[in-house]
Amino acid sequence: MLTLTPKTLSSSSSFTVHKSQSPRPKSPNSGKFQSSKWRSHTIFVKSEAQIERDLQFETGETFFRHESARGRDLGVLSATLYKRSKGSLRILDAMCGCGIRSLRYLAEANADFVIANDANDANRRIITDNLSQIERGTGDERRWVVTHMLANKAMIERYLIGDFLDMIDIDSFGSDSAFLRDAFNALKLGGLLYLTSTDGYSSGGHRPYNSLAAYGAFIRPMPFGNEIGLRMLIGGAVREAALLGYHVTPLFSYYSYHGPVFRVLLRVHRGKLHEDRNYGFVTHCRLCGHSDTVRWDELGLMGCPCSDTKASSSLVVSGPMWLGPLHDASYVTEMLELAREWGWVSEGTGIDLEKLLSIMIEESDPRLPPGYTKMDEMASRAKMNSPSLKNMMSALVKEGYAVSRSHIIPNALKTDCPMSHFVRIAEDELQS
Ligand SMILES: C[S@@+](CC[C@H](N)C(=O)[O-])C[C@H]1O[C@@H](n2cnc3c(N)ncnc32)[C@H](O)[C@@H]1O
Ligand SMILES: [Zn+2]
Repeated sequence: MLTLTPKTLSSSSSFTVHKSQSPRPKSPNSGKFQSSKWRSHTIFVKSEAQIERDLQFETGETFFRHESARGRDLGVLSATLYKRSKGSLRILDAMCGCGIRSLRYLAEANADFVIANDANDANRRIITDNLSQIERGTGDERRWVVTHMLANKAMIERYLIGDFLDMIDIDSFGSDSAFLRDAFNALKLGGLLYLTSTDGYSSGGHRPYNSLAAYGAFIRPMPFGNEIGLRMLIGGAVREAALLGYHVTPLFSYYSYHGPVFRVLLRVHRGKLHEDRNYGFVTHCRLCGHSDTVRWDELGLMGCPCSDTKASSSLVVSGPMWLGPLHDASYVTEMLELAREWGWVSEGTGIDLEKLLSIMIEESDPRLPPGYTKMDEMASRAKMNSPSLKNMMSALVKEGYAVSRSHIIPNALKTDCPMSHFVRIAEDELQS
């Protein structure tokens, strides 16, 4: 018997668990997976019992991170909104680890049916034990099943038998985008795809040929690389969806520095868009710090207003990627209302969910272009002090610009104000 004090989002009490004495038998497939590349990414968490939002579960030797709880919260809120609006909710948790997401989708979002899949069949006992808290049911009433296929196979199987899903959650490593096509094929129209990238090197512009291969985007270093990471991921999905005659809209985008982890929730719609104004290029001038967007039909006209010549050597260009809003304001507002209804606010752990969702709503203003300005960087480039975020925000609004905070970084602003005006407004603000 073992007494643990779990690190938890919602409870700090100790509880007692019985540590399993039975050794895990080696599965026939485990050798095969051990040699494959995903195995080398795995971080094992040894602790045996955890609590997340009042649900108790074990992690054994599966990959598990407490820090991903916020991403799980966002998935559960979205799944619940889906169930409330459509009346049914069938989910594939394609890389379920210990099964905590599946458990939360069943217990909190009241999912009708969840496929908890993980390629590693050594995770089976842990997943099954965790899900056993939810009555399994039989026949048409069956609520969950545990499978051990590669995620692509799990999705292709659904597609082949015409059993389309309401939501697919792919909690993958790195910048693996090989799931996109199979995911679109396995989803219902109007369904939700919850995607992941953990490739901070690519979003930081340090592996442009890697991002090109994964998402079709040549990414170069820019001061707002973590927002680029979200836009690169959405852009990859936009491209793949178009190929199949669909289009996608981001409902929310979430960056977390633990990992880092980039997560986006997309809704899939029928029909490709013939002219997508939201898919193009982002520029950043290393000289003056100004950023802009460039559409496909403007590619020959790139330059920065600070330079006399059209072709400025100070200009860095990345793309194509998603240029539109990172989130859907009305959707995130519904998520916020649900979080309040459930009391998932003001918890004092990590970034508060209420604050996160409120900033996401601010960020959704369609007038806001990609990127953000870090106040310290702006101040050091302009050789001045930095005004407070709050004062700068009201000054920008007074001048008629759109402005918001960024959920990605605290001391930065998103705005449609050109950099030369931004610096002038900051100077005026310091003098007033
Ligand atoms: C990031 S962990 C999942 C964590 C879990 N979703 C959670 O929230 O705690 C990724 C999991 O995917 C599994 N995996 C890796 N590659 C896979 C693949 N191609 N298909 C299915 N599962 C895979 C790994 O065994 C690992 O358990
Ligand atoms: Zn410039």
